[in-house]
Amino acid sequence: MATSEKHHSLEAIEKASQDELQALQLERMQWSLRHAYDNSPSYRKKFDDAGVHPSDLKELADLAGFPFTTKLDLRDNYPFGMLAVPMDEVIRIHASSGTTGKPTVVGYTKNDIDVWSQVVARSIRAAGGTRKDKIHVAYGYGLFTGGLGAHYGAEYLGCTVIPMSGGQTQKQAQLIQDFDPDIIMVTPSYMLSIADELERQGVDCRELSLRVGMFGAEPWTAAMRKNLEQRLDIDAVDIYGLSEVMGPGVAQECLESKDGPTIWEDHFYPEIIDPNSGEVLPDGEDGELVFTSLTKEALPVIRYRTRDLTRLLPGSARTMRRMDKITGRSDDMLIIRGVNVFPTQVEEQILKIKSLAPHYQIEITRENNLDLMLINVELLPDASLEKRGEAEQTLQKYIKDIIGISTRVIVHLESGVPRSEGKATRVIDKREL
Ligand code: DLL
Repeated sequence: MATSEKHHSLEAIEKASQDELQALQLERMQWSLRHAYDNSPSYRKKFDDAGVHPSDLKELADLAGFPFTTKLDLRDNYPFGMLAVPMDEVIRIHASSGTTGKPTVVGYTKNDIDVWSQVVARSIRAAGGTRKDKIHVAYGYGLFTGGLGAHYGAEYLGCTVIPMSGGQTQKQAQLIQDFDPDIIMVTPSYMLSIADELERQGVDCRELSLRVGMFGAEPWTAAMRKNLEQRLDIDAVDIYGLSEVMGPGVAQECLESKDGPTIWEDHFYPEIIDPNSGEVLPDGEDGELVFTSLTKEALPVIRYRTRDLTRLLPGSARTMRRMDKITGRSDDMLIIRGVNVFPTQVEEQILKIKSLAPHYQIEITRENNLDLMLINVELLPDASLEKRGEAEQTLQKYIKDIIGISTRVIVHLESGVPRSEGKATRVIDKREL
């Protein structure tokens, strides 16, 4: 498609100037703060306690004076206490299962579902999709926002949706061969499991109809992008989102630049803060991503702390700002004998070793008061067994040299590392047991 033609298909706001965008954001932010204050008792109390009022927001930077919202606020108001509209206006509920305790519950009005569908449709377009495409959705359908979020967006764009959901890996592989989808939406870790299954069935993954993978819902590295792109002969782009803010489609990487997800800033206003002090950091600096919803009716979120660590980057393929690939969540950070480690750093090292499969799981144990990190990896099915010792030593060396910690590595044989069917469990912490 010619560039001008492609540009023509963008929504007006995607082509707007910074000034136009900021004017819209200010107007919407004033509405969102007032809506939260007027209609959600918990927000009113929060604002009153902090001594702020929606009318204090005269410019975008004034947002810094408003209190944060955290997952704890949602938990404390379980299940529906944060809603800012009467229940009869709520047409959908989603929930994300916490590792401990009660799930985080979110709600949507008819208009919220429309906006969500539009931003996901916009995301699919940014990934190079058009109404002519068939989309295989392997994000889970149900309380998780991935499946239904992707589904409504794909339908909104006019694509042909294959609502496969997660699991049933053999059937996933079968339908991909039979239905010839152009785009797949799935977690990157589950894509690997599906690719393994396809290869087990004797399929050359590079010969499939797939053109684009929209991968997200969990952290994945540039090294993993390369691995998936080569193995499947596709373009792999990053889709970001979280249920508290909406679901998938808060930000989407553009196919033409592949330089980090563009944040759909006309609906979700980002800030980066120092996670310890709460201070707002300038664009370009690393910190915790915080979102304020600008148009959401049922569950407005004001300065919601995502715990995702990244930085804001200037717009490239669009005027709107981008986020860098997420390093991890602050709660995923491991501290091993004083050194901070994210699973993504380990992933980068594993993917450098040719004889290893891209599957991995990290175990943390404590022996004699020392934290030990054990990395479970797997030999590729076609790698010779003699590579096993070499791979183990090389990985240990890379992690020691680059991350700075000593680890134990176990190189398993085929299928020795548990497979993901959705979000991968990267870390098993056995210290609390
Ligand atoms: O995972 C929404 C989603 C579904 C996004 C499908 C993309 C695709 P939650 O279950 O609420 O919602 O989990 C949100 O997952 O705070 C991040 O920690 C992580 N996450 C989501 N997308 C990405 C990504 C969905 N592209 C949490 N890269 C977020 C890294 C991601 N982490």
